[in-house]
Amino acid sequence: MTEHMSFEEAKTKVVELRAELDKYSYHYYVKDNPKISDHDYDVLYHELVAIETEYPDLITNDSPTQRVGGTILPGFTKVVHEIPMLSLGNAFNQEDLMNFDERIKKILPNEEIEYICELKIDGLAVSLKYVDGLLVQAATRGDGTVGEDITQNIRTVKSVPLRLQKPYSIEVRGECYMPKSSFLALNKEREENGEDVFANPRNAAAGGLRQLDPKLAAKRNLSTFLYTVADFGEITANGQEEALHQLDELGIRTNHERKLCKSIDEVWEYIQTYHEKRVDLPYEIDGIVIKVNNFAAQEELGFTVKAPRWAIAYKFPAEEATTVIREIEWTIGRTGVVTPTAIMDPVRLAGTTVQRASLHNVDLIKEKDIRLLDTVIIHKAGDIIPEVTRVLTDKREATSEPYPIPTHCPACESELVHLEEEVALRCINPKCPAQITEGLSHFVSRNAMNIDGLGNRVIVQMYEKELVEDVADLYKLTFDELLTLEKIKDKAANNILTAIDASRANSMERLLFGLGIRHVGAKAAKLLAERFESMAGLKAATKEEIIEVEGIGEIIADSVVAYFQLPEVTELMEELAQREVNLTYLGKKRTEIAESDSFFNQKTIVLTGKLTHFTREEAKARIENLGGKVTGSVSKKTDLVVAGEEAGSKLAKAEKLEITVWSEDQLLEHLEGEE
Ligand code: IVH
Repeated sequence: MTEHMSFEEAKTKVVELRAELDKYSYHYYVKDNPKISDHDYDVLYHELVAIETEYPDLITNDSPTQRVGGTILPGFTKVVHEIPMLSLGNAFNQEDLMNFDERIKKILPNEEIEYICELKIDGLAVSLKYVDGLLVQAATRGDGTVGEDITQNIRTVKSVPLRLQKPYSIEVRGECYMPKSSFLALNKEREENGEDVFANPRNAAAGGLRQLDPKLAAKRNLSTFLYTVADFGEITANGQEEALHQLDELGIRTNHERKLCKSIDEVWEYIQTYHEKRVDLPYEIDGIVIKVNNFAAQEELGFTVKAPRWAIAYKFPAEEATTVIREIEWTIGRTGVVTPTAIMDPVRLAGTTVQRASLHNVDLIKEKDIRLLDTVIIHKAGDIIPEVTRVLTDKREATSEPYPIPTHCPACESELVHLEEEVALRCINPKCPAQITEGLSHFVSRNAMNIDGLGNRVIVQMYEKELVEDVADLYKLTFDELLTLEKIKDKAANNILTAIDASRANSMERLLFGLGIRHVGAKAAKLLAERFESMAGLKAATKEEIIEVEGIGEIIADSVVAYFQLPEVTELMEELAQREVNLTYLGKKRTEIAESDSFFNQKTIVLTGKLTHFTREEAKARIENLGGKVTGSVSKKTDLVVAGEEAGSKLAKAEKLEITVWSEDQLLEHLEGEE
């Protein structure tokens, strides 16, 4: 499409695309309310990339394609905060809070004080400067007077607008943090790679902002909540609530759990409520910040040397529990990493009963000198994963001895290695049964080949009975073989065989991810499959060609090249091909989608009622492959409604709006005609 575009046309189109992408990104990252699918976003994004590649003069600094800069910084430059970034006084109990209220009322006896309660986000304070609506600088707090310039890293944080919705010149501050889900995923990945885990999301976020390579910062999935206007510029507001509302209107992400309170008792109630709710929030908070809402009152109250008199941070007590370690269990992951788990006396902790705590790796056991029968204090990292905070050494018996670290793999008895650059112990025996069965479980998992009915227990049995040794063996399993497994009767065996058979038709990215090549996650697998189109294509690719794929770095490229050089991998590919497992990419290339002249291209389609030929997911994927968009509700913007059996209100609405309605057969016919 871009080939036929003149410079002038391209100029108009990039403005249009950027506005659209910014809008969708705003709904997704600022409002937490996605309006289109990731796939649709990607299509628009790649259309913009294509035009910008052809006309580089059209690239602007605030283009959504320019979030991740290419250069690695030599170091961070210093930034002086013209308005210092202060910290807050703390309150630890109700009495501290009442004293805060009294101090304020003493200074302002004749005013009705309104407090605004905000969540105290557990991240890192950052300050963002906008000039004429454009983000020009981002800095850390540092010592409050001098911080570090982290503009390149903050630009990768999608909730931070590169351009405000009005051309204001302002300085705003807030917290940059890592959502709990990103933290858990990051630690899981680090554990599998034998790397050290982060103690909490805050440290992981701090590590992200301190990366000199913005590409690495971008991978941390950080987010922000802003809560202070330092330089008001064009903003006019009489109080904090109004100021936050103005930030909302500029497209800046603020936290909406905030509440205006008329009395300190109401503040206390808010604190109690959020003390309970905190475990359910998708990010970590470590307390509540209470601020006098009115700016004139804030000014009258002023500052002490360290902190404002008009605000205080109520700190939640740390959620901890004491228990005793009875046993340490060792499990082997598919990459051979051996992970210890402490089995403890059950104890209540932050809303659940806890009996197991991850010890993450052998270095941590040594560092904390964790022993059997130790009394320990535990907490939950990211509010979810129980971990040992510390050992109460004075409760130890005199006979206690350091924990004997295993020297041999509990599954295959081969000697474990402790690689120099790793914190983990590793079993490097490629034939280790635990690694093999874990690898098989990964292969059948939902984001990989998606084979239902093969839980870990079934896989272990199949392995023990020598029915499968590698992933290719799954495709030669017979009905009778399956019946030899415990609890597998006719129906289950049939279901398993059907699921295995269906997986043969999966597009290559599922297989590539399922193979468990180190560092190749689902996303990388998709990018590689899309670019190289077949396993043979990928095998033939050089490291340089692989690195050229946007989003793929050197570590992944090295790992892929090394993998395909292994003779047993060549054999495995041959076996898979023989057993009719598809080894090619079946999705469309992004550029093809954007340029498609398919009937479905750019059409908004609603599926309703029961579909019999395919699952809804399948129909959706096939429509999307041809450039269509599948949405959930019928509106004037809907181009087509496909009505399966027993279609109800959506069909009625389509008829009312005079939207074209197809039967499932008609859909199938069109899809088959075009694919
Ligand atoms: S107001 C003048 N509001 O907590 C100081 N701080 O203990 C203005 N924090 O350094 C800070 N959430 O990093 C404020 N809603 C919130 C906050 C918050 C987290 C952090 C911030 C600050 C520290 C103070």
